[in-house]
Amino acid sequence: MASTHLSALGRHLALAGFMGSGKSRLGADVASRLERPFVDLDREIEARTGSTIAELFAEGGESGFRKAEEDVALDVLRRQEPAVVALGGGAVLSEQTRGVLAARAFTVLIDVEPETAWQRVSGSGRPLAQEEGAFHALHRDRQPVYEAVADAQARDVDGILLAAAGVYVELGALDDLESLVPGDGALELVVDERVAGIHGVRAQVALGARDVATHEVPAGEAAKAGAVLERLWNALRIGRDGAIVALGGGSTTDVAGFAAATYMRGVPWTAVPTTLVGQVDAGIGGKTAIDLPGAKNVVGAFHWPARVVCDPALLTTLPEAERRNGLAEVVKTGLLAGDRVWERPEPEQVRACAAFKSAVCLADPHDRGPRAQLNLGHTFAHALEAAAGYALPHGRAVALGLLAALRLSGLADEARLVDEVLSPEPVAVDAEAAWAALARDKKAEGGAPRLVLLDAPGKPRWGVAVPEADVRKALGELIAGRQ
Ligand SMILES: NC(=O)c1ccc[n+]([C@@H]2O[C@H](COP(=O)([O-])OP(=O)(O)OC[C@H]3O[C@@H](n4cnc5c(N)ncnc54)[C@H](O)[C@@H]3O)[C@@H](O)[C@H]2O)c1
Ligand SMILES: [Zn+2]
Repeated sequence: MASTHLSALGRHLALAGFMGSGKSRLGADVASRLERPFVDLDREIEARTGSTIAELFAEGGESGFRKAEEDVALDVLRRQEPAVVALGGGAVLSEQTRGVLAARAFTVLIDVEPETAWQRVSGSGRPLAQEEGAFHALHRDRQPVYEAVADAQARDVDGILLAAAGVYVELGALDDLESLVPGDGALELVVDERVAGIHGVRAQVALGARDVATHEVPAGEAAKAGAVLERLWNALRIGRDGAIVALGGGSTTDVAGFAAATYMRGVPWTAVPTTLVGQVDAGIGGKTAIDLPGAKNVVGAFHWPARVVCDPALLTTLPEAERRNGLAEVVKTGLLAGDRVWERPEPEQVRACAAFKSAVCLADPHDRGPRAQLNLGHTFAHALEAAAGYALPHGRAVALGLLAALRLSGLADEARLVDEVLSPEPVAVDAEAAWAALARDKKAEGGAPRLVLLDAPGKPRWGVAVPEADVRKALGELIAGRQ
């Protein structure tokens, strides 16, 4: 595969592939998830020429059609606003179109078995789907052309969204790290010291052929400190052609990502999250940060990882308490997506949640709009954490926060569901301290707290002004001895 581009961030997302691969259907879904315009090239050609594809073939032969197709493809791909473009099956035969794709698009090959494709399109009247033998022969001829233009391959909506964000989810991916970390310069492996003792050797072996220097950082949140960052800055020896690889939970990817954002004004980085929180949330979307004493995540940068490698097999060594932290984010994501993701096996949870977060962050890389939905339950969670002096596990705080958000949304059944799945115990903190923390929270703008609520599962609304008394009551219900 060409693999020149690593994500569709700021570029068109083009879907290439044979007739019957489902490009039009998948493209429309992906475009709505990414909040981008969708262009189905064949429909666009028909709209512009006023003729059907079959008529264009009949009038000008295949070459006449290809010329019209090339004109429209070039025009569409030269537009500034990043779109999702479903290319016709033969559009990539044009050298000019391939050139513009390489310059302006991230191209995903939609892979399909020729038998499946034939079942879908035979009898549809498509000019090149008249006879099965010729159809298969054409598929064989075209496949290498598709592979040459594609930056990635996918088969379903989630697969396209993951590829578009540069996120790779696969059991056993750690062992393929060498081929998954982009570039061929020197690497700096930043690893959580506890994770180093568990998965570090395998990671180093997997990167064996590369020039790698390893840097251990303190386990967990302690890594997100100015002193750790400064130590990293001083230890790094890569040039702009090198890259940082972060192996650990969200704490490690946050500090290593921030080191990558700042060192030499920015070097590429790859996140290899080893916690459930990391694989479904923290490793994805390009937010990086460290803490200041008493203030979490206050110094940071947006720096999209060149790649995120999620290997759900790494989660087998995760302590139960950390798994529960992750499960709270999985439930949050499932509520936002309108899909009971948490009922599926863990590797599927990772894939679905990683795809969801990838889409939201690609649609809003700098947190100016829809990304706010990812804060569902978090305004309450942060208030409880602050009131507890950060001694409260994040997952428990989020689970409680979800209860409050669902109650305020009038979704009693979903609140019961969260209770069943996460069974969060109310916390014994000072209610006034929690309220003060909530009011201080950056989302409490202009007096009335602004919250993420759900109209229904899968239908989030953000920036909702909720009367102070209601918010106070919902917060109080999360505090032990206050119900
Ligand atoms: N950047 C973002 O978008 C984003 C999103 C969510 C959370 N975060 C941040 O992520 C941090 C929390 O990250 P986290 O929940 O992933 O935990 P973590 O990185 O703090 O790690 C928690 C503990 O798990 C251990 N651990 C990690 N992987 C392990 C494994 N595979 N086996 C055994 N032990 C393992 C660590 O050593 C540590 O002790 C917070 O600082 C939070 O602010 C960032
Ligand atoms: Zn969270």
